[in-house]
Amino acid sequence: MSEIGAFEFQGKRYEFPVEIGTENEISIDIKKLRGTTGGVITMDPGFKNTGSCKSEITFLDGEKGILRHRGYAIEDLTKKASFLEVAYLIIFGELPTKEQFAKFEADIKKNTLVNEEMKNILDGFPRSAHPMGVLSSLTSALTAFHPEYTDVQSEEDMYNAITKILGEFPVLAAWAHSKNDGKPMNYADNSLGYIENMLMMMYKVPTEKYKTNPVVLKAMEELLILHQDHEQNCSTSTVRLVGSSHASLFASISAGVSALWGPLHGGANQAVIEMLEEIIADGGDVDKFINKAKDKNDPFRLMGFGHRVYKNFDPRALIIKGSADAVLSNLGVTDPTLKVAKHLEEVALSDPYFAERKLFPNVDFYSGIIYRALGIPVEMFTVMFAIGRLPGWIAQWKEMRMNNEPIGRPRQLYMGEIKRDFKNVSER
Ligand code: CMC
Repeated sequence: MSEIGAFEFQGKRYEFPVEIGTENEISIDIKKLRGTTGGVITMDPGFKNTGSCKSEITFLDGEKGILRHRGYAIEDLTKKASFLEVAYLIIFGELPTKEQFAKFEADIKKNTLVNEEMKNILDGFPRSAHPMGVLSSLTSALTAFHPEYTDVQSEEDMYNAITKILGEFPVLAAWAHSKNDGKPMNYADNSLGYIENMLMMMYKVPTEKYKTNPVVLKAMEELLILHQDHEQNCSTSTVRLVGSSHASLFASISAGVSALWGPLHGGANQAVIEMLEEIIADGGDVDKFINKAKDKNDPFRLMGFGHRVYKNFDPRALIIKGSADAVLSNLGVTDPTLKVAKHLEEVALSDPYFAERKLFPNVDFYSGIIYRALGIPVEMFTVMFAIGRLPGWIAQWKEMRMNNEPIGRPRQLYMGEIKRDFKNVSER
């Protein structure tokens, strides 16, 4: 294979080096394009063909439906590892030894006490505020409580920032939920594990003794592991872009939460349940909604379907679908949306519109059904995704800073007015 990418423009040939990744992915390095061509740029809205970085964290093959973190298959990680073990792997590159893991867990626990003044900020929100907006604001507010500069060359500084955000973020998420629910804010109980603690903070009421349901805990751990990283998706690219200006880890992650909120990204898990409920309320006619999704004059899209990278089954969706029946029956929950979701999937997969465009169920298609069975309110679904995605955002921010990547700053093709003379208001 040629190791040069070349193109001809205005009678001149330009050559660019080709780089091949460890999984044989190929990129053409156009860093010198503008300089050598005298200002030509590439145009790629939505970055459908543009690599923004080299990364060692996550490999995904959208054609084959493969997802691996640091070389380990997602199927193995969800079944064999705990949430914090996978977080350590994703952030630091290797599975932790027993000693490394014990230290990591203990250091996160040292950071679970959020400054009391944060509650004043939370008080300012109306009870009806969406918890994703609250979570993004509170995460940004952490910068005021930890204004110290993180020296990214210092392993200790970096480690401290990482354990701080991992410790405080679930507390903020649980508080966002309590605010919404009109319940008192809980503090962490450091005798509990990471996910159990998060569930306790969300659900414990002062009048009752809190008891973890092991089925809920196991299902939640698996779901959140599945969400930990997904290479350069919209929120992760946002975290890297914000961080590339040397904004702090907390500020960058706050921006990631906002990016995740949108219904085309993490907000799809809420949108899927709302869509399934709408189908049921409308009489359950699945074909009608499939036709709406295919109609180019109708803005409706089948939520939880399609993916920028997967042109095959999203392996995360396969794992979640596999667990959905077991979790619901273990909990004794019957949810009519699961039946509608399965019917919808069956009809869509056999429809040429979806087949031709390679649209398959994605991670958000079944996750909401499990969240709901686990007792998570709909408006908290995307918050759960954010808790799951936090280790990925951290790992990507750390990698970007440690590689000393330049500030992210795309170019544009200007299509506006050319130079014109200013007229005073009396002449307009
Ligand atoms: N329903 C109906 N048509 C669709 C859908 C859908 N869900 N998704 C894509 N299409 C069509 C689209 O109209 C286009 O058709 P045509 O070629 O005739 O113009 C074609 O498929 C390609 O779609 P696209 O919008 O160019 O693809 P994209 O890579 O820009 O968008 C996506 C990917 C995930 C935003 C999109 O598939 C979508 O909006 N899906 C629904 C929202 C959703 O489930 N999002 C969660 C994504 S996975 C988890 C995450 O990222 O958080």
